[in-house]
Amino acid sequence: MNEHTITDVDAVRRAGSRAEQYRELLRALTGLLDGERDGLANMANFAALVYSGLPELNWAGFYLWRDGQLVLGPFQGRPACVRIDAGRGVCGAAVVRRASVRVDDVHAFPGHIACDAASRSELVVPFFSGATLLGVFDLDSPRTARFDAVDEQGIHSALQVLTAATRLSWPAWPAP
Ligand code: SME
Repeated sequence: MNEHTITDVDAVRRAGSRAEQYRELLRALTGLLDGERDGLANMANFAALVYSGLPELNWAGFYLWRDGQLVLGPFQGRPACVRIDAGRGVCGAAVVRRASVRVDDVHAFPGHIACDAASRSELVVPFFSGATLLGVFDLDSPRTARFDAVDEQGIHSALQVLTAATRLSWPAWPAP
């Protein structure tokens, strides 16, 4: 993204359907990442676009797989816990399963880590470089059952755009 570009977050917010939201989000993301490969900058803008574009979120951000743990990365929302072990909470479950985890009611999820008491539902989507786990993207909502399969697929696609367009490298630690 260069200094003359304004990202159309409002086009995402105006979208009539959830599928349309993600079409607009991917369009905005492609523009946002254009010409920039820095991992930190692109993850920060990714989190900001998701958080400001999608409705009913109270947290959206990255946990990066480093040091054999998930470590907090760029995010939007209230301050959050910094380190999460594989297998702990919703994020750690996504690491062990190497797959997305959608939780309609976080209070019913054993081991859920509450970073913001307002959170009711959660979606965690892992992302990879080839077979190597890079981290997870975590979305929290104050509404129960906020996320569905369209969100899961949409965030997965957005993360694929991010990883294809960006230099995301930190020392690799053995995957769980
Ligand atoms: N709820 C997450 C922890 C991260 S915060 O929601 C930002 C979990 O259970 O893994």
